[in-house]
Formats: sequence, structure tokens, C-alpha cells
Amino acid sequence: MNLAYKILSTKLKSGELVAGQQIGIQIDQTLTQDSTGTMAYLQLEAMGIEHVAVEKAVAYIDHNMLQTGFENMDDHEFIRSVAKKHGITFSKPGNGVCHQLQLENFAKPGKTLVGSDSHTPTCGAMGMIAIGAGGLDVAVAMATGTYYLQCPSVVRVNLVGKKAKWASAKDVILYILQQLSVKGGVNKIIEYTGEGLKELSLTDRATICNMGAELGATTSVFPTDEITKEYLIQQGREEDYVELKADEDATYDEEIIVDLSKLVPLTAKPHSPDAVVPVSELKGMKINQVVIGSCTNSSLPDMLKAAKILKGRRVATHVSLVIAPGSSSILAMLSKCGALADMIASGARILECGCGPCIGMGQAPLSKGVSLRTINRNFKGRSGTNDASVYLVSPEVAALSAIKGYLTDEFEDDMYLDDIENTPFVKNKNFFIDEYDPQNEVYMGPNIKPVPRGDKLPDTFKGKVCLKVGDNISTDHIVPSDSKLLPYRSNVPHLAKFSFCKVDDQFYNRCIENGGGFIVGGDNYGQGSSREHAALVPNYLKIKAIFAISFARIHRSNLINNGILPLVINQKDYDFFNDQDEYELINLLDSVENNKDITVINKTNNQTITAKLKLSPREKTMIQYGGLLNAIKELGGD
Ligand code: F3S
Repeated sequence: MNLAYKILSTKLKSGELVAGQQIGIQIDQTLTQDSTGTMAYLQLEAMGIEHVAVEKAVAYIDHNMLQTGFENMDDHEFIRSVAKKHGITFSKPGNGVCHQLQLENFAKPGKTLVGSDSHTPTCGAMGMIAIGAGGLDVAVAMATGTYYLQCPSVVRVNLVGKKAKWASAKDVILYILQQLSVKGGVNKIIEYTGEGLKELSLTDRATICNMGAELGATTSVFPTDEITKEYLIQQGREEDYVELKADEDATYDEEIIVDLSKLVPLTAKPHSPDAVVPVSELKGMKINQVVIGSCTNSSLPDMLKAAKILKGRRVATHVSLVIAPGSSSILAMLSKCGALADMIASGARILECGCGPCIGMGQAPLSKGVSLRTINRNFKGRSGTNDASVYLVSPEVAALSAIKGYLTDEFEDDMYLDDIENTPFVKNKNFFIDEYDPQNEVYMGPNIKPVPRGDKLPDTFKGKVCLKVGDNISTDHIVPSDSKLLPYRSNVPHLAKFSFCKVDDQFYNRCIENGGGFIVGGDNYGQGSSREHAALVPNYLKIKAIFAISFARIHRSNLINNGILPLVINQKDYDFFNDQDEYELINLLDSVENNKDITVINKTNNQTITAKLKLSPREKTMIQYGGLLNAIKELGGD
């Protein structure tokens, strides 16, 4: 057995470990962050449970910590009060980024984690099955200890060779993205094996697992070894170590080989993480801003490598360099060893430990500017500046380029950090709050609005196409996550007004005018984050079905959780749909119950096509009841 199935087999509650089958697995840990957490906890509240049913549930505040109005503080206080009521650990703002903190403090080999953030797979570095999901799925996992998913197939990445001197973990995953593309990992687990494992530190492995999300993968996983053990010792958690690896004769569904000795520094060009080229190809490109941090590259070794390059040098006069360490402990470590002083002396700005610029929360680049970032995504507009160009790079390339003022990988020998000692971490427990009082009153500020609920499935549904879009529509397109909108993540009616605003600013008005209807998309619809709002908003706007050539995994689940039909069409039928024409879906009850194709009639010319909808029994129930919350309310259970 491969490692992924070994872990899953110990957690299997329902179904069989056969790729494509619906399975239910026991969940040991959950995490939420503030951007998706408010909705997840509103949903948890609606389920009426007392204490969470998992070993460890953590509520992080890391996305939006700016307090330029009351909205964010309202959300933080709401999350804190719910955490106290249900026995959830609360991580205060300033403690750091959820995935970095989870890795340092709670991740354990062989355990399962589900988180309302698409980069939850970061903890796969620790030999966990760690999966990103929508807030409602995480709420159900907290309430019941179970999570349902389509059993993924397993891809083996065989790491060979000795890592080239200036190649980093970021280059490993950018190389894989170049090979497989942003949808190459859909419904797959990426499992790393091979002699090259010893070339990668635990936090290198975390970087690679983190950006497995950009492949669309269900998750990524590394075996555990001495490197894992050393990291746990460094964190003061040696007792959590368990050795885990695939059987010698393990089988995989696919295999790719990555020769670490052939890797060179790489960059992903705007506006997609798989638009990867060697840095040397763009050498000399003038830059305006450099951001080092995010859940991808904010570990202590990443920070130390950047500090070594910056030490005794000066950031170019026309460049703004900002650095956000991944956790308060990392910041303390940097301070203790003097690396923080080296960074500041170079002219770098040190930001609060959190997501910050990654989500456009401050530090928006210059208009038409070029920003080098160590983050995981470079979708258009995500930085907060719509016409800026964001390039994804390693911390080493970021630091070097910040000094030079242009993109480069021409390192000098004394910039190389040979050996990073595993000195024990300064553990900061003061940011974690563990309180439990089932009587605690939940705080609801005026910014917090109820969760939208769908209607039960009708037998026929008539409506207009409110929007037709192309391939690779991301959740950022569906509901932008910029700094002006993030404070409204618990206020769906307000967010709805901005849905698709960067694609077609009439979408909202059309939905209101038409009383809902349909959306038509191309390939990989809903890629990107786990943001449930990208389904909650269409639910609020009474969108009943989305036709697309293919759907991103988490978004498809979020649509079903909201009672919205994710209907698959082929390329030819994409042309069947015209903006603003009226269509009718017929025999919906029978088609959903018996997994038959859905008949779609164009009411303008009476032409007909069929769209595919393959649902598991559990998904069927959700669609029939108009969403998971309705189904839980009526039927109970998970
Ligand atoms: Fe935060 Fe960006 Fe990661 S928003 S959780 S640092 S992808």
C-alpha cells in the first residue's frame, strides 16, 4: 500500500478505498481562519452541538487583522466567543498564519486534518492527510468527526538526485506545476518518495505540500523520517513522532520523476501559478516590490536564508521590500539570533505575522507595477492592484532581487546559508486561548448576517443565463477577496453586490432582475481557494445551476452543500448557451434520484441538450433538500 491509502485505511468510516468512490473518513483535527471561519461557525451554531467531536479544533485569525472599522473586530470577537462555547482553541491575531502554526504546534504523523482553507495540505509534510474544504464541511467535521470526499487516486513523485545549490523547495513545486498544470492534481493525492527526500527539510516539504493546492490536488503527503523527528524535537513535541512510509512494493496510479540536481530557480509569471519559466529567462526585469512571507514561504529557514542575503546589503532605492514571518515564534527566533536586525538594517519593512499582502490585505503593489512574491497564487487582482504583475519566486530569489532592483538569480557565494541549526523553538503560548464554557454567550455584531439557505429541489426550473464565462474562473472572480470586501465575509448580502464585478459588473443586477438563473463556465470552474462565499453568494442570488466543462474539487462540493447543481457539459454544448437566453431544466427529481443526465431546453429555439450530474447518495440528499444545512436540520446526523 502507498502511504496515502495506509493512513486513509486507518480512518475509513464508510465506502471503499477505490479511486472515484465516495468515502467518509474520521477527522482528528480541524482548522479555520477568519476569512472562512465566520461562516463555518455560523453554520456550526445552526447545528446546535455542545463540544466539538474532534481531538483538536483551532480557530485562527490571520487573514484580515486590519481594524480600520468595527467589522473585523466584530468577526474576531464572534469567532472567539464561539470557540469558547464549543471547546475550540482560539489563535489570536498576530500569532501567525494558520498552516505555519498548525505545523509547529499541532500537526501529528498519521492524523487527519480538514481545514476551511485551501492550503491546509501544508501539514502533509508531517505525514498527515490534511485536506482543504469549504466552511460547512469543516463545521460538519467539527460537529460529527466525519468528512466525506471522493476517494482520490495517488500520484507518486519520485525525488532523485542531490538538490542543486540554489534550487529551493519552491522550485520543486513550481517545476511540478509546470509539468502538470493547475488542474493536473484534481482528485489526486500527490505522494513524495525517493532518495531525494533527505534533501528536503520539514519546512521545505511544507512548501511543496502547500502549493500542491495549486495543482488542484486533494492533498499531498510525505513519509516521516529523522528529518520529521528533528523538527518535532525542535518544537518540543518529540513524543508525537511516528515513523510512516509506503510499503516497498506500493503501487501508484501515476508516477513522475523529479531530478533535484537539474532544478534551477524558477518563477511563475502573471497570472497563473503554472506559467512557470526559469528566472534566467526574465533576468533584468525591473521590479517595484518584493514580498517575503505567506503560508508558502514564511518558515524560520526561509526567513534565515533571506536574512543571510540581505545582511550588510541595502534594498534597492526603488524597491519596497516587506517581510511577514509565519508565526510569533519565528519572529522571536529571528529576533534572538539577530537575523531580524539584519533584515531591518537592509531597509526591509517587517509586517505583522499573518497573511497580509498575500490576500491583498495591505501592501497593494504600484499601479502597473511588478511585484515578486514568495506566495502561492498570482491571480489577476489578488494583490489588490488589478493591473499589477505578480511573479512567484523562492525567498532566495526574492531577497537577491530586492537588493539588485531587478529579477535575477545571480547569487554570490557568501549569500549561501550552509547549515541551519535545529535550535529549540521559542514557544509562544500566550497567543493561544483554550477556554471552554458551554454557556458562553455568542457575540453577534451588526456586520454578521444569517447564512443563506436554498430551496428544496423543484421538478422543473426555468431561468436565464445571468453570465457566461471562460476557462479557469477562480473563486476570486466569483467573489473578490480584496481588502475592501474582506471585512464583509460574514455579510453575504453585501458581498453579493460585488460578485463577478471584475468580469461583468452587471451580473448582480441581472440576477436580481431575473430572480436568479444559471451561470455557464468553461474548464476548471471555481479553481483557487476554498472560499465558500463563492457558493454562498450564488445561493443568495438564487442561481440554481452552473454549467461548466469541469469544476474544481472544493468548489464543486461547496456548490452541492449550497443546493446548487454543478452540471457538466462538453465543449460543443458550451456554445449551446447564450447570455440572457432562457433555459428550462426538466424531470429534475427523477434525474437526481437516479443519477440520469439532466435535460436542458433552450426556450428561445426549443433545442435540447443533456448535462451530466453524477452524485453520491449523500450529495443527492443535499441537492434534494436545497443544501447541507437544510438536510441536517430535517434529517439530523452528518
Ligand atoms: Fe494566508 Fe495566503 Fe496562505 S491568504 S493562508 S498566506 S494563501
